[in-house]
Amino acid sequence: MTRSIGVVMNGVTGRMGYRQHLIRSVLAIREQGGVPLASGERVILEPYLVGRSEDRLERIAREHGISRWTTELDRALAADDTSIYFDAQVTSAREEAILRAMEAGLDIYTEKPLAESAAGARRLADAARRLGRKTGVVHDKLYLPGLLKLRRVIDSGFLGRVLSVRGEFGYWVFEGDWQPAQRPSWNYRAEDGGGITVDMYPHWSYVLENLLGPVRSVYALAITHIPQRWDEGGKPYEATADDAAYGILELGGGIVAQINSSWCTRVNRGELVEFHVDGTLGSAVAGLHHCRTQPRVNTPAAVWNPDLADPNDYRSMWEEVPGGDFGNAFKAQWEAFIRHVCGEEDHPYDFAVGVRGLELAEAALLSSREGRRVELKQVP
Ligand SMILES: NC(=O)c1ccc[n+]([C@@H]2O[C@H](COP(=O)([O-])OP(=O)(O)OC[C@H]3O[C@@H](n4cnc5c(N)ncnc54)[C@H](O)[C@@H]3O)[C@@H](O)[C@H]2O)c1
Repeated sequence: MTRSIGVVMNGVTGRMGYRQHLIRSVLAIREQGGVPLASGERVILEPYLVGRSEDRLERIAREHGISRWTTELDRALAADDTSIYFDAQVTSAREEAILRAMEAGLDIYTEKPLAESAAGARRLADAARRLGRKTGVVHDKLYLPGLLKLRRVIDSGFLGRVLSVRGEFGYWVFEGDWQPAQRPSWNYRAEDGGGITVDMYPHWSYVLENLLGPVRSVYALAITHIPQRWDEGGKPYEATADDAAYGILELGGGIVAQINSSWCTRVNRGELVEFHVDGTLGSAVAGLHHCRTQPRVNTPAAVWNPDLADPNDYRSMWEEVPGGDFGNAFKAQWEAFIRHVCGEEDHPYDFAVGVRGLELAEAALLSSREGRRVELKQVP
């Protein structure tokens, strides 16, 4: 048996909305014959595209055999069969659109951050509670093979008592003058909702909270290293948003996390993000795809002697955690959210978690402005 759910998809002309959510998630789910439920039923998703440009929507719809698209959000929300609203618009447009969708009776799945500010995110969480809507915020990093393997390592007890984690995220984003930038220009304008802290700290919040423990405090330095960039049309503009953030976070259980986030660093790592976790019984280094471990018993005896070349090849002393096919991280969370909407399972990554992500981002920015450590509310 199959049943279909109409999904209003707003922002599908954008980078994330098109590639990850429309192509690799919703259409991929359609191609595989829907989301299988425990009941034996399969849920087919019927996208209804919403955006600002008729031409671009029409082209996407035609290319992918999608019958419905519109530039009027309310029209899609009012369609008989649409019961989920998905938002991948620029962050600044999100709060109002989600509120309208909730008032129209739809459940909500959205890109992060949930809103432009923690206050905006709290307004949405309150409205969802009041209206009884189911909610989900993208938590893709937790569905990445590297972090799924890290979770396995942590759950097995291999690390013993976890002491610390060092996270390195980033790569060089071209300024846009001699090579086009790999990210949209609004990311570098604070007035348009840009900034690496607001972009990445919501991720760090749920990654740390789910793998190691809730964040208790943050000390961060958010900075704009590159003050001028060139936009999509080749015009120079002032980059008013932070493009790097250097943070120290204390987690529950006394774990210390240091996380560097930067769009101004040249990669000398295995992957674009890596977390190095040290514990009393072992250590692990996890990235997007890989996770390597070193147990206590295999820890080399490192001896500090600057006069001699070190004979240890430290990198070769780690062992790869094997892993199967975990599938696309975004698609995996779409499927989990659909099962949640169908009443089959809990979806813990809801608006409340989205609120905490923005609270952490704002605490980091406050810490940076005032040059002090900022404590966070305890997670219930
Ligand atoms: N989960 C992740 O790892 C991840 C990664 C990157 C971005 N994101 C989030 O996804 C969202 C979209 O980011 P993106 O990189 O795809 O951006 P993008 O600029 O490529 O796309 C933005 C989309 O919003 C639409 N839009 C609506 N109102 C707009 C306005 N006033 N100005 C400009 N565009 C407007 C555009 O038409 C487009 O469809 C953001 O909220 C961002 O934080 C998440």
